[in-house]
Amino acid sequence: MKVSFLLNGERVDLDGVSPQTTLLDWLRTERGLTGTKEGCNEGDCGACTVMLRDERGPMALNACILFLPQVHGRSVTTVEGLAAPDGTLHPVQRAMVDHHGSQCGFCTPGIVMSLAAAHVAGDTDHDTVLAGNLCRCTGYAPIVRAAEAAAGAPVPGALAAAPELPEAQAQDDLSGGAAAVIRSADALAEWCLAHPEGRIVGGATDVGLWVTKRLDDLGAVAFVGRCDDLREVQVSETEIRLGAAVTITEMARAFAPHHPDLGRMLNRFGSVQVRNAATIGGNIANGSPIGDAPPALMALGAVLHLRKGAARRALPLEEFFLDYGRQDRQPGEFVEAVSVPRQADRLACYKLSKRFDQDISAVCGCFNVQVSDGLVTGARIAFGGMAGVPKRARAVEDALRGQPWTEDTIAAAWDAWEADFQPMSDMRASAGYRLETARNMLIRYFLEDIGAATRVREVSA
Ligand SMILES: Cc1cc2nc3c(=O)[nH]c(=O)nc-3n(C[C@H](O)[C@H](O)[C@H](O)COP(=O)(O)OP(=O)(O)OC[C@H]3O[C@@H](n4cnc5c(N)ncnc54)[C@H](O)[C@@H]3O)c2cc1C
Ligand code: FES
Ligand code: FES
Repeated sequence: MKVSFLLNGERVDLDGVSPQTTLLDWLRTERGLTGTKEGCNEGDCGACTVMLRDERGPMALNACILFLPQVHGRSVTTVEGLAAPDGTLHPVQRAMVDHHGSQCGFCTPGIVMSLAAAHVAGDTDHDTVLAGNLCRCTGYAPIVRAAEAAAGAPVPGALAAAPELPEAQAQDDLSGGAAAVIRSADALAEWCLAHPEGRIVGGATDVGLWVTKRLDDLGAVAFVGRCDDLREVQVSETEIRLGAAVTITEMARAFAPHHPDLGRMLNRFGSVQVRNAATIGGNIANGSPIGDAPPALMALGAVLHLRKGAARRALPLEEFFLDYGRQDRQPGEFVEAVSVPRQADRLACYKLSKRFDQDISAVCGCFNVQVSDGLVTGARIAFGGMAGVPKRARAVEDALRGQPWTEDTIAAAWDAWEADFQPMSDMRASAGYRLETARNMLIRYFLEDIGAATRVREVSA
């Protein structure tokens, strides 16, 4: 297929590329740009970080799980393109030298690119910016000192102005072509009918690993990450609606003013690079029992919007997850959007994982309990990590509803947890631990809600 993009300011036009070539492989093997490193090849270490710019602004992304068609119409900057043509280092590079931010140096290009993307965006939350970049020898203190030192410097020339992007025209190849960069929901509907078993790629933070780790052949593939109408966030008086290709970064931003705890929890979803690529459509459609967004959306009463051709249907999000690895989606059907009703904010989300940042949940509990005159009038509680699918705690909800909002009621719901969940033991947590922490999360929600003096948030983030 054809792909056009800017690489370090110069236009690149490729023809006949395999849609499942990663940007990292292409940079290193075809272009000899070996500054971008391969560490894990699965989105975890950040050694392959590059800066992408498009109409959404600058962002750091992991090149190892980014397929070439995903950069179509965008501007890519690698570490080789950061210094000025006369060799003057970028302020972040200069500061890394001055503050001894590099020892073996393997992580350094990725770290520099993450910091440079944040520098252009004016983001000074350095700990968050660096959460997706592993360094094993320097230690983060000198790196953070370098980031702080560079923060005040002006953005240098070529990065200060928006890039002149190559024409990102539609590439909707619907004539039986198996690989397409899709730019509208209508075109996707048509493509899905023509390729009912085809693979839709949103951000490729799941699909990318199937290629780099399992060496899968994707077959017919549609890239929807730049599909304009699937990228819309609509906040009306009645609902918040996210198109399927809205990224987790954008979702966190959209929800933060309305449900701040969801915004906070999503800031622990993967890393900056993962959140910039991953879409809400992908997070739902892959049906993972430990996807972080579904339990929160289910607690908010989310509705999933599916489409096949011109036919659309909507269903409560929890009904989409039928069983482990099985969702209510027909061949040729795709996720178009997800919406939640506007409501007073009662949502709390607790993600429990072994590491605070860049880790997958052992248990993720989301609570939305309505209380009026001391009585529970409504309850939606949903969990990831407790069953083969993201699941509501209906027996617990029933045990709370109509009862006084007290510790006694929560204690009386004790047995209901086992009616709802028979979690498994795996390397992340034992079944007993999962059940106990889930129960404790409800106690925590209650204590936070009544403003107990007990400090139940160990971090302010
Ligand atoms: C390093 C790393 C850390 C991660 N951390 C987390 C985490 O903390 N929490 C978490 O929940 N997940 C995490 N993930 C998993 C992943 O990022 C999420 O599941 C993500 O939301 C997937 O979205 P995507 O757009 O990248 O999906 P893709 O990889 O593009 O697709 C995933 C699946 O969804 C299908 N699909 C995509 N869009 C649609 C659509 N519109 N309609 C129908 N089907 C569609 C694809 O065909 C595929 O089956 C992590 C992944 C990595 C690599
Ligand atoms: S090589 Fe580790 S994130 Fe890409
Ligand atoms: S300097 Fe060696 S891994 Fe960071």
